[in-house]
Amino acid sequence: MTSHLKTDYVSEIKRMRDEKNAIILAHYYQTGDIQDIADFVGDSLALSQKAASNNADIILFAGVKFMAETAKILAPEKKVLLPDMNAGCSLADSCKAEDFKKFIKSHQGRTVITYVNTTAEIKALSDIVCTSSNAVQIITSLPPDEKIIFAPDRNLGNYIINETGRDIVVWNGSCHVHEEFSLEAILMLKKKYPGAKIIVHPECELPVRLVADFIGSTSSLLEFTKRDKGKYYIVATEPGIIHQMKKENQEKEYFAAPPKDSTCGCSECNFMKLITMEKIFNCLKDESPEIFVRESIVRKAQKPIRRMIEISKNMVLSK
Ligand code: 13P
Ligand code: SF4
Repeated sequence: MTSHLKTDYVSEIKRMRDEKNAIILAHYYQTGDIQDIADFVGDSLALSQKAASNNADIILFAGVKFMAETAKILAPEKKVLLPDMNAGCSLADSCKAEDFKKFIKSHQGRTVITYVNTTAEIKALSDIVCTSSNAVQIITSLPPDEKIIFAPDRNLGNYIINETGRDIVVWNGSCHVHEEFSLEAILMLKKKYPGAKIIVHPECELPVRLVADFIGSTSSLLEFTKRDKGKYYIVATEPGIIHQMKKENQEKEYFAAPPKDSTCGCSECNFMKLITMEKIFNCLKDESPEIFVRESIVRKAQKPIRRMIEISKNMVLSK
């Protein structure tokens, strides 16, 4: 029997958020309703910048575990909550600390730059962290002859090599979502809408990047659709971002780039989509599950993340 006293999650979440002095941070890959109740929506860089500078006592992260861990590392005195601890990341999982230590050892003398999509242990082994928004900027801030290790995303790594021409060895990891797009289906869509611009996240494979009109992080893709004069866009990243694109420009049309398997819906990040309104409500009510990171790891991981924030400090926060 369904109860007629169904909880109004949205007003209850807002009430508890104010009562507990909490802030809700959401990534663009969350569902539209969750993005709409968040205090701040952004890409990985903007979210870590926001986590590092806010007055809340509690940060509730509507995103995945590595993002919540990054918030905890930057603000260890705050309570950081993640509504579902199974919200992991296939890319972060593709780089285990024990294996990465050996990789660093076999490429001694190289500066270790890691994408934010890693565990706290991997960050603690890094010299600088980066996101897809600032990867090129971080690499080019180093002397031209500096030898670099980049991990864990092979597609972003190869994209950075092409953009910068630097000497970089790349860890062989990838994101299951961004490697799922079908070049053939994208080109079929383009045939149907010849004026459509193909906009692509750098975690996508080379053939998809090669047909792109624009390549960038989620917030750069959003900015591109805002300033571009076109009307149609084929969006090759997780389709959650289309919610913000539509909010910014309702008269434009956005098509989610189709996956290789048209029956699977696998261009959605199943980790991101584990977060629901009901879980946010329960998490804020119980103040659990809470993120904990070992103090020794916090100390080591803070340095490379703060270095990234320092280098990127003139970059604009999302929204
Ligand atoms: P950005 O938020 O940097 O665009 O990264 C996308 C992503 O895959 C996050 O998991
Ligand atoms: Fe990880 Fe890919 Fe999901 Fe981003 S989209 S959280 S990289 S699995």
